[in-house]
Amino acid sequence: MINDLFRFKMKAMKVMIFESKIQAAQFTSQQIFNHIKSNPEEAIGLATGATMIPVYEEFVKLAQAEPIPLKNKYFLLDEYLGMNSLHPESFRNYIRRYFQDPLHLQDDQFIAPYEGDFSSVEESILHYETQLKSSHGISLQLLGIGQNGHIGFNEPGSKIDSTVRRVFLTESTRLANKAQFPHEEVPREAVTTGLSNIFKSKKILLLATGKSKALAVEKLQDKMWDSDWPATSLVHHHDFLLVLDKEAAERIR
Ligand code: GLP
Repeated sequence: MINDLFRFKMKAMKVMIFESKIQAAQFTSQQIFNHIKSNPEEAIGLATGATMIPVYEEFVKLAQAEPIPLKNKYFLLDEYLGMNSLHPESFRNYIRRYFQDPLHLQDDQFIAPYEGDFSSVEESILHYETQLKSSHGISLQLLGIGQNGHIGFNEPGSKIDSTVRRVFLTESTRLANKAQFPHEEVPREAVTTGLSNIFKSKKILLLATGKSKALAVEKLQDKMWDSDWPATSLVHHHDFLLVLDKEAAERIR
């Protein structure tokens, strides 16, 4: 049992604050595990980024301690344009490394909004949307957050009704993700699921850890949609849980 420091509600949004990053990650992985256990047929939305690495590591430990069927479909939020699943820095490869392979899951359980195997970006997006529809949408969407408030790759200025599409990355996001690209330039474009797709998820869990996320987290408190801070599109979702460590919560009033 991991105890949170604070727990409160801001309108529909529930907030939980943990002493450390690892406690926040453990709690998050337990939530995903419980959700999959009770909803073995439903689609799960997976996020990537450094924040999620301990979440998947903890999830693997939970699944090893208590094997449950993991037959769900798993949808990735976003992917760099032009990268195929074998590219070491692709999000698809990240998910393979931290989630799929340790859990011995099948390739056809994973759907990314951009997969290099399709003849065009449009075809890849169509495939993603078709799969999403046939899975009846996302049951639990896991999210990280960018320092500039992006979710998926919905950068500042994204429309609240945006759908799966090709996007340009901001320079600040490219800079923040530079550590993942030691040998090459950070891509300039990506394909992301839209803000409206994310909002349609039945449940949303956003995990933010570290001081660099504190400003983006603070914006969620204002409870109003602000297109400069795309994550604010979530504040009126009926089942939105915000999980923070102390550092990410330092600007919460
Ligand atoms: C990336 C991804 C997001 C992720 C965010 C935070 O660019 N597109 O899905 O949540 O940025 O990443 P990190 O956890 O590495 O800070």
